[in-house]
Amino acid sequence: MSFDLIVKSGILPDGRRADIGISGDKIAAIEPSITADAGEIVDATDCLVSPPFVDPHFHMDATLSYGMPRINASGTLLEGIALWGELKPLLTHEAVKERALAYCDWAVSMGLLAIRTHVDTCDDRLLAVEALLEVKKQVAPYLDLQLVAFPQDGYFRDPTAKANTIRALDMGVDVVGGIPHFERTMEDGRRSVTELCELAADRGLMVDMHCDESDDPLSRHIEQLAYETQRLGLQGMVAGSHLTSMHSMDNYYVSKLLPLIAEAQVSAIPNPLINIVLQGRHDTYPKRRGMTRVPEMLKHGIRVGFGQDCVLDPWYSLGTADMLDVAFMALHVAQMTSPAEMRRCFDMVTTSSAAIMGLDHLGLDVGKTASIVVLDAGTPVESIRLRAERVAVIAKGKLVASRPRRDMALSLPGRPDRVHRRHRLPGT
Ligand code: FE2
Repeated sequence: MSFDLIVKSGILPDGRRADIGISGDKIAAIEPSITADAGEIVDATDCLVSPPFVDPHFHMDATLSYGMPRINASGTLLEGIALWGELKPLLTHEAVKERALAYCDWAVSMGLLAIRTHVDTCDDRLLAVEALLEVKKQVAPYLDLQLVAFPQDGYFRDPTAKANTIRALDMGVDVVGGIPHFERTMEDGRRSVTELCELAADRGLMVDMHCDESDDPLSRHIEQLAYETQRLGLQGMVAGSHLTSMHSMDNYYVSKLLPLIAEAQVSAIPNPLINIVLQGRHDTYPKRRGMTRVPEMLKHGIRVGFGQDCVLDPWYSLGTADMLDVAFMALHVAQMTSPAEMRRCFDMVTTSSAAIMGLDHLGLDVGKTASIVVLDAGTPVESIRLRAERVAVIAKGKLVASRPRRDMALSLPGRPDRVHRRHRLPGT
């Protein structure tokens, strides 16, 4: 037997050392030692070999547009939306496509091989929808791109949003989105959740709604989303993104809400980098963090995946497509510091997010798609601590990115001439 590619001597996330044999675009063998021939060998000695990073929440139509046409002065979500509204008429098909492809290059270099991106449908030209559908096709050989029809200016609030969202779905956009907290009234928000979930149920599509992205403790759209999910039999197909208002909700109410979300099998997608930046902007001190209640959701059995949300756009001035940055921030903001919780943060930027997106073909098992990241770390937790270098990225069976391992040279009297920052924590 021979393989097209063997990833040699890596450490699996569960701590086992193994060789991984790849044939075509599939994992064909995972064994302690593979001696068969291979067309290509990737040396992963002492490196963590992981399933790919997965970003379940992004805005690829806006990415890499920072400063166009101006900078968000207040740093708020609402000014970001207004700023995006100024930029939208200036967008061109080619520019959106070029920026999206540039971001996909970054993503691949960081081992980020699946992205769910919202695409704004509040534009009669649907220019970004067309551009991202083309990008999706172009990157398909190495990156799974899932598009969400997202009526950014409100499904009811924007006069043509409804027709354009339906047109976008007809054009092949995969998932139904929404933004109930941005509608004119709480009641309009509630109706938008109902109507958009019905639209998804009619078409057999998944739902991913920006939901309660505010500091308003009385925002209740996630309750409606869970209700509609059950009513329409959409269990396991629906996600609520952001859910930041839950940070500020009354504790008694949350004790009722979390079991409802769990019962409806609605997933949660917090976006820690963006939530910590955008929320609490109206507070003086104490200043709320704004991230939703992740450890409590996990205790209730709710599936959680962390998203990047924004990179260099009207809402966020940083970002490198590094999902380890996302996990690092999440771990801090959610105070998930036990060994088990830190490990869980790694899952929430890899396997849990893949499950939310319905990407059953990803994972480190024989028969799964051979999309694998080799990280310069010994364990998943260490990879978060180091925001570890990607030594190699294999996408659908092909080596698509690689770099030399980096040890820093040291020139100190009486000290070794190299430094590496690995240090395994007990229990991880
Ligand atoms: Fe978002």
